[in-house]
Amino acid sequence: MTQQYRADDWEEYRMNTREPFVELESLERELAVVDEALETLVNAGVLPHRDYDHAAFDAHRRAVRGCFEIPWTAISPRMERILWAINAIARPKRMIAAGIFCGFTFISNAGAGVGPGAVYRPEDLVGVEVKADEAERARRNVEALAPRGPARSVAADAVDFVAEYCGPIDLLYLDADGDRGRGKGIYLEILEAALPMMPPGSLVLAHNSVNCADRLQDYLSFVRDDAMAASVNVIVDPEGLEVSVV
Ligand SMILES: C[S@@+](CC[C@H](N)C(=O)[O-])C[C@H]1O[C@@H](n2cnc3c(N)ncnc32)[C@H](O)[C@@H]1O
Repeated sequence: MTQQYRADDWEEYRMNTREPFVELESLERELAVVDEALETLVNAGVLPHRDYDHAAFDAHRRAVRGCFEIPWTAISPRMERILWAINAIARPKRMIAAGIFCGFTFISNAGAGVGPGAVYRPEDLVGVEVKADEAERARRNVEALAPRGPARSVAADAVDFVAEYCGPIDLLYLDADGDRGRGKGIYLEILEAALPMMPPGSLVLAHNSVNCADRLQDYLSFVRDDAMAASVNVIVDPEGLEVSVV
């Protein structure tokens, strides 16, 4: 059975992708939606608890807004907060984000472990982007926020990178819009390459579980059927996030 969290205003909660920092709602409302979503993940057995450091998240958000160059993004403030909170709670030692464009999606995950809002010490946080110029922009952005530390941007095909990665992957974030006609179907390819390295309890986060549900049909069937211990569709905005536990 598909489990889900659905904010009652998810369809009306819309951002301008070229002005990602414009306030869309009160902070109280953002906190309430994210808390409810985290509670659903706890009840589904995906997360152990829903507590995270709000001041650390604020420091992270402030720093990103101060130093990141973001031409556009579809990561809404609600999505930014929930990605950061999931990482702050799960504390993955090794995280790979696939398809990071300018790096905003990557740092929304990695910012729990590096930069002014870091709440734990990871070993390796990798953002993989196939376009060399965007990987370079992501590198500059990440370096401005966290000049030292284990967050890095790599120019590579995420399928190849993951297949060759040595060591366990504790959290995999999927956002690649596959090149060479592979489209969002590439999520399943990346996950299948990663799964042998993902220990029980590790997490897979897939952006666009709502607006790309058709194109993600094979991926969503895979994670929602028997392949995963649990999977929850988190609908805080029109894009959505599928959160699965291995
Ligand atoms: C839609 S963008 C992600 C943007 C993000 N959702 C946001 O709103 O900020 C998808 C990115 O995946 C990258 N990509 C496509 N195929 C890839 C692959 N095989 N490996 C790594 N990155 C890939 C694209 O170059 C693009 O920058």
